[in-house]
Amino acid sequence: MPNDAYPVVYVLHRQTAHLDVTGARGEAIPRAARAQLGLLVISVESFGLGGSAGSTPLRLRLDGESPTYAFAKLYARNHLRADRWYKLGRSVLYGSLEDEAPFETVRRLVQYEDYLLRLMRDAGLPTPTPYGVVVLTPEREYLVVCEFFDGAVELGDAQIDGAVIDDAPSIVRWLWDAGLAHRDIKPSNLLQHDGRVRLIDVAFAEVRPSPWRRDVDLVNMMLVLGLRPNAQRVYRRALRQFRPEEIAEAFAASRGVTIPSQCRAMLRRDRRDLLTGFRRLAPRRRPVRIQRWGIRRFIATGRLLLISALLVAWVYGNSLAVNPETFDSNARAVANVVDVGAPTCRPGVGATAPARTHGAGRSPGRRLALRARAFGPGRRSVQG
Ligand SMILES: Nc1ncnc2c1ncn2[C@@H]1O[C@H](COP(=O)(O)OP(=O)(O)O)[C@@H](O)[C@H]1O
Ligand SMILES: [Mg+2]
Repeated sequence: MPNDAYPVVYVLHRQTAHLDVTGARGEAIPRAARAQLGLLVISVESFGLGGSAGSTPLRLRLDGESPTYAFAKLYARNHLRADRWYKLGRSVLYGSLEDEAPFETVRRLVQYEDYLLRLMRDAGLPTPTPYGVVVLTPEREYLVVCEFFDGAVELGDAQIDGAVIDDAPSIVRWLWDAGLAHRDIKPSNLLQHDGRVRLIDVAFAEVRPSPWRRDVDLVNMMLVLGLRPNAQRVYRRALRQFRPEEIAEAFAASRGVTIPSQCRAMLRRDRRDLLTGFRRLAPRRRPVRIQRWGIRRFIATGRLLLISALLVAWVYGNSLAVNPETFDSNARAVANVVDVGAPTCRPGVGATAPARTHGAGRSPGRRLALRARAFGPGRRSVQG
């Protein structure tokens, strides 16, 4: 098992930070996969970055005459930060309806995903077979490795025919019967492969979910399908798996906020009001109230507001620091204050100028800016 350090290089792709898998890290992955899982990996490449929302997805080419692959998701500490933000946002959006707890370590995160893959496989769901977890740098970088669906197409790009519209709702029925919720059903997490629909990215799945959570899975699946053929066809096919009252209740409990952002963006482009379209097809049902406030949600909202305020202060402090005109006028203001012998100076106005020369009396925004620079991207690297 390699105990070296693998420098973290960030490649920004559609607002997510994917890790670079060339160089030392790219060489360490085959060594570690062989030592820990017995997989003979001959090459590593980024794969599916377009559909990826959290991890660094990889395709591992395995040794053999014909090309065979395994799929892997690389997780590092930066993914913990993304997970924390994501869950804070969800706690604010859904309050007590969701039970969000961010992962404290990368190890726990990969353990959870691997466990959920195993649970889904045991329930007979069409998810990738798990191969296990590989550690690259203890507590810092891990891989979750599983079956690769060769030639699969994300549902957003696939031809949606009758077989898909039959198959996809049955996956939700299966999840319901197995006491599981996926919680992130969207086009990039559904693959069409060998004439079947496959469910991937189980990292947010939940065991024994609330009825509301199950309902949201059904609605999101119907929306993914309804984006392509017409809603009536999808509704009729869904009736093979669900009673009309079940579908009605699911749509009564769903709103814009319960739909993953990829689906929301597609719905906006589509211009049909699919949610209302499905509601009209199902029996009438009063909307289910989903906005419930609890102490946890108050705390999460408070934290988010505080962080936003600090960010604004940071941006403001930074703009004062880099704008020479503002800087000069602030310096003059300080000089005037000192001249008239005023006992205090207001933070954020007079305090900025001396900070440059003496390093004291910095405004909160400037202090944050300096700290951010000290721990900024230039210093982000994994130490072994
Ligand atoms: N087992 C798999 N076989 C083939 N392609 C996959 C597999 N799992 C994921 N992918 C592709 O990789 C993309 C990202 O994987 P995903 O598990 O959704 O990662 P993330 O958590 O980063 O969203 C998917 O949208 C899909 O295109
Ligand atoms: Mg995904």
